[in-house]
Amino acid sequence: MNLLLAVFVVLLVLLLGIAALALFISVFVGVPFVPTHQKQARHMVELAGITPGMNVIDLGSGAGRLLFLAARAGARTTGYELNPFLYWWTKIEARLKGMSNVVDMKCQSLYDADVSKADVVLAFLFPEPMKRLGPKLFSEMKPGSKIVSYAFAIPNREPRIKEDGIYVYEVA
Ligand SMILES: C[S@@+](CC[C@H](N)C(=O)[O-])C[C@H]1O[C@@H](n2cnc3c(N)ncnc32)[C@H](O)[C@@H]1O
Repeated sequence: MNLLLAVFVVLLVLLLGIAALALFISVFVGVPFVPTHQKQARHMVELAGITPGMNVIDLGSGAGRLLFLAARAGARTTGYELNPFLYWWTKIEARLKGMSNVVDMKCQSLYDADVSKADVVLAFLFPEPMKRLGPKLFSEMKPGSKIVSYAFAIPNREPRIKEDGIYVYEVA
């Protein structure tokens, strides 16, 4: 019984340590990890008009919620996530779900993402990253592709749709 309690305490301390470290890294990265609410996440995927075979990127993919939803809609997805815990979490979840072939992860900055082949870029970031990303996305993404951002708009750009706190832009 004492051994069981000791194992439980060690596991709890380990988990709390990992959570604290993940939080610290998130703060260091600049945008904390907050998953998109399930309802809005589903709505983002719906508004993105994802069809099988599309290339979908989530910039700052967190624990992969948007990636898995997009992959279930038939997309090949790529997540850019700087926090190594979230990166590995998503990679392991993809492996366990047998979705590694449609959920690819990159532990690198979203500002260096290759968005040239993306049909859809998803984002739930902060105002400053959206301001910085706007020129990159509109100059590097292909015509007809979409940017779907939750909660934060791209400054000086008119969204085609604004619904449920979700902004949808189309690249001309
Ligand atoms: C608000 S969370 C959104 C998570 C996920 N997209 C979702 O909707 O559930 C933002 C994520 O962006 C990541 N992030 C912030 N800045 C980043 C950067 N420069 N490069 C890669 N990831 C970044 C954070 O670590 C965090 O997990």
